[in-house]
Amino acid sequence: MKAVAIYPGSREVKLIDAPEPRLAGSADVRLRILDVGICGSDRELCAFKYGTPPAGSDHLVIGHESLGEVVEVGSGVSRLRVGDLVVPMVRRPCPHAACLACSADRQDFCFTGDYTERGIKERHGFMTEYVVDDERFMNVVPRALRDVGVLVEPLTIAEKALAQIQVVQQRLPWACPAPAGTRGAGCHRAVVLGAGPVGILGAMALVADGYETFVYSRGGGDSPRARVVAAIGATFLDAERVAPADLPQRVGAIDVVYEATGVSALAFDVLPLLGTNGVFVFTGVPGRAPAPRQIDTDGLMRNLVLQNQVVLGSVNASRADFEAAIRDLTTFKERWPDTLAALITGRFSIDAFAGQLLAPPADAIKNVIALS
Ligand code: BGC
Repeated sequence: MKAVAIYPGSREVKLIDAPEPRLAGSADVRLRILDVGICGSDRELCAFKYGTPPAGSDHLVIGHESLGEVVEVGSGVSRLRVGDLVVPMVRRPCPHAACLACSADRQDFCFTGDYTERGIKERHGFMTEYVVDDERFMNVVPRALRDVGVLVEPLTIAEKALAQIQVVQQRLPWACPAPAGTRGAGCHRAVVLGAGPVGILGAMALVADGYETFVYSRGGGDSPRARVVAAIGATFLDAERVAPADLPQRVGAIDVVYEATGVSALAFDVLPLLGTNGVFVFTGVPGRAPAPRQIDTDGLMRNLVLQNQVVLGSVNASRADFEAAIRDLTTFKERWPDTLAALITGRFSIDAFAGQLLAPPADAIKNVIALS
């Protein structure tokens, strides 16, 4: 079967012929992969910035944003049936019994760093025709989400971040009047940094939660990304026209910053602008900067203390976050059907992987390798 793999030793990215996997344990399911999303991490893997093949392999099959259909189930499988649509989780627990996070099925908080990730770290990924996996890492997706189910995994990044904001802000003993039909963020204002898929899906989740949402990104007010932002009722702020320092004037007090660019210089320009009692969530993973930058550490520390601010980083996602993403995607599809569909800017055959992975079109939002 076809698969896209990176060879870190020889620095090659290739379409390979891989053996079809078979069920190995009674809890295993076999999936026919339908769609695989391409994200910034895949492009970095293809540039050999990171990515580790499984032990004993010279290559790593990439792909971690996926949608599959169950085609075979082991004798002990109870939650899934042939024909179910599923999105598999990416991260798998570390082998250490002493890791409280992994023992509690929260490998997204793994203490040891010895977790594995499908398509990223020591486990083959989903950019291939069939995969075999344990049913406990599968999340069932309703048939109605067949066309957009591949967006579940990138949305889980926002879901975990939002869940943590909610936990942190329980420290504030008052509630804002919640707009009807929302989970109740009420009077809060959020700034999303970046209008890539993780940023836009995060903006959708924030709007759906009742935040007044602003998306700060390059790309111009008439770009496809800006149109998507406007269509969901958020405000696009063009980073080429609005300086970071002007954000509070355009937005008002910033209660939440959801960072989704991986550009540390921008993030640290915006951090001093966070409002009183605000939360700043980092989700991007920056490359190594060519040179250190100076920041006003006294000013930042003063703000953090005198304004009760919280800064947190968030990676990967739990089962609950996958379930929340599937629920939210259903809501987004009801509320913004055309806009949600427009996030998928292209579907390509696996043979076209090179163009998509190595030289993506500039105005693409989410491009997908469609396997069937
Ligand atoms: C994936 C996460 C993963 C992270 C770090 C992201 O692109 O969506 O699942 O944990 O990369 O490897």
